[in-house]
Amino acid sequence: MWHLVRILAASRLWFSDGNPIATQRGGHGVSSRLIVDGQGFLDVTEMRSLDSMVLDANGATLWLKRRERYSSRFACPSLQNSPYPLSLSLQIDDGGNFSLSIANIPSILTACYSISEQVSGRLKPLPEISAEDTAFINKMIEQKFIPYQNIPDAPKRPIQEIRALGRQYFPFTPYNFELAMTLYDWTTASFARMVLFKIFQYTGINTGIAALPHPLDRESLAVNIWQSNFSVYTPQDADYMRTFLMQPAHSFDNLTAQLEEVIDEVYNFSEIGNRLLVAAMQSMPRTPIASKPRLFSGQVDIEQLGTERFGIEFEECPLNEGPVGVELTHSLTDALASYMAVGKTVTTKMVWSFTDSMEEAMHYSNGIVLVLNPPSGASVWDSVSFVTPLSDDPAKMEYTAAPGTKFKIQSVQHTAVSGKPVTMIGLEPVLERDGPLKAPPMLEEIRQQRLSADVVEHDVVRLGEQGIDFHGSVPSRRGRYKTERQGKNGWMDE
Ligand SMILES: *[C@@H]1O[C@H](CO)[C@@H](O)[C@H](O)[C@H]1NC(C)=O
Ligand SMILES: *[C@@H]1O[C@H](CO)[C@@H](O)[C@H](O)[C@H]1NC(C)=O
Ligand SMILES: *[C@@H]1O[C@H](CO)[C@@H](O)[C@H](O)[C@H]1NC(C)=O
Ligand SMILES: *[C@@H]1O[C@H](CO)[C@@H](O)[C@H](O)[C@H]1NC(C)=O
Repeated sequence: MWHLVRILAASRLWFSDGNPIATQRGGHGVSSRLIVDGQGFLDVTEMRSLDSMVLDANGATLWLKRRERYSSRFACPSLQNSPYPLSLSLQIDDGGNFSLSIANIPSILTACYSISEQVSGRLKPLPEISAEDTAFINKMIEQKFIPYQNIPDAPKRPIQEIRALGRQYFPFTPYNFELAMTLYDWTTASFARMVLFKIFQYTGINTGIAALPHPLDRESLAVNIWQSNFSVYTPQDADYMRTFLMQPAHSFDNLTAQLEEVIDEVYNFSEIGNRLLVAAMQSMPRTPIASKPRLFSGQVDIEQLGTERFGIEFEECPLNEGPVGVELTHSLTDALASYMAVGKTVTTKMVWSFTDSMEEAMHYSNGIVLVLNPPSGASVWDSVSFVTPLSDDPAKMEYTAAPGTKFKIQSVQHTAVSGKPVTMIGLEPVLERDGPLKAPPMLEEIRQQRLSADVVEHDVVRLGEQGIDFHGSVPSRRGRYKTERQGKNGWMDE
């Protein structure tokens, strides 16, 4: 555990956990996000092993390691349940640099442990948020296009609670409510708008119009809205069609005619929503890899898309070059043989959702499951955000990656999970070159120890083996906007 005892900073500070600055924080696999007004974020992440403790601060590390001569367990105070929370001193300049040091180390600790006393680094940048985007979102909130109306299948959150969460997580911006609301709305069936209007862009062609950057495959969009068919989410449902600014449609021609009238407006709506969503995602605290060593995603996450729409979700798909009118559809086999082959790097066009168990991912899978492995040397998942704290359903574990995130394909297997055939793709996020620093060897050693321990503990999938099995059954093919959660005694249907 640790706490801040001295702070030298000209900016206002908050922790995104909402607790006072001096509160004691940490514990193994816990990351705390400090928000520095006008400047950026500092993520302090604690990791422990039997004889050492590491505090990762935006990739730079403070550590304590037991001296060799005190290898006996009894000679030193344990770090596992230490009665000595580390006292830290923090200094932040006005150029986005920080330094963090250990203050007032009790002599019993200095006798037993070698200690790195100070680290420095840079804050992670605050997101850019445009006033025009937030004004647009406010208009959509007033007109009840946001959030999704009459959610039939999740506990939902009252507006007042969303407001309070906005103040807690995004106190650095006057637009904290708009960010919170956009993130909340993503977790509802509104996500269908924000996905479909991203993946059907010909991203290789520029329109020259900033608000609508690429032409759309309009025919595929219309077909996929028309084929929506889960629970109440069909083209005949007024609330579902409202997310596309349309009325219920009883024929494909009617839907196409309606879509032609509103398509630019919905496209603009989706682009603005995606931008604010990404700003909100960037501002959420990070998840330590020590607590979630792998993440999983069932794809495609809208059932009617089918596996032949998976490849077109990436910028690397050559069909993005058009010409406009060519159908954005590409067989998975062909995609896996070219731009998605092992060793290639792909860039997502849309927000991707992951969850923390293979079982849950299989529940959302329509033929594909992704296994996301952490980048080596990282302490936190820098490219994914845990969004459940703002979800309409607190039981839905959801980690999201922004459009533009790059992933390296590590493995592709055609296998079966609980008897269900699936293409399992192993990936690793590719970090930006000037992103968080690589971990020094000391940290990597602890990380590896913990990772192998966690993998055993959690009985994680035995990758590389055929016929992976789970306790409990896997339900049938469904789209992502569905409601079943795994209950104590198996799967609960709505
Ligand atoms: C912040 O750190 C960088 C690199 O260490 C340095 O070049 C820069 O001058 C520092 N900025 C301020 C305002 O001290
Ligand atoms: C998109 O929405 C913004 C905000 O309402 C508006 O100013 C802009 O004209 C719209 N652009 C298009 C192309 O519809
Ligand atoms: C929608 O799904 C139901 C079963 O879940 C099926 O009976 C129905 O035919 C489907 N409708 C369309 C239009 O595909
Ligand atoms: C779609 O159908 C509805 C009636 O179901 C009708 O009121 C509306 O005008 C039609 N829209 C278009 C664009 O054809």
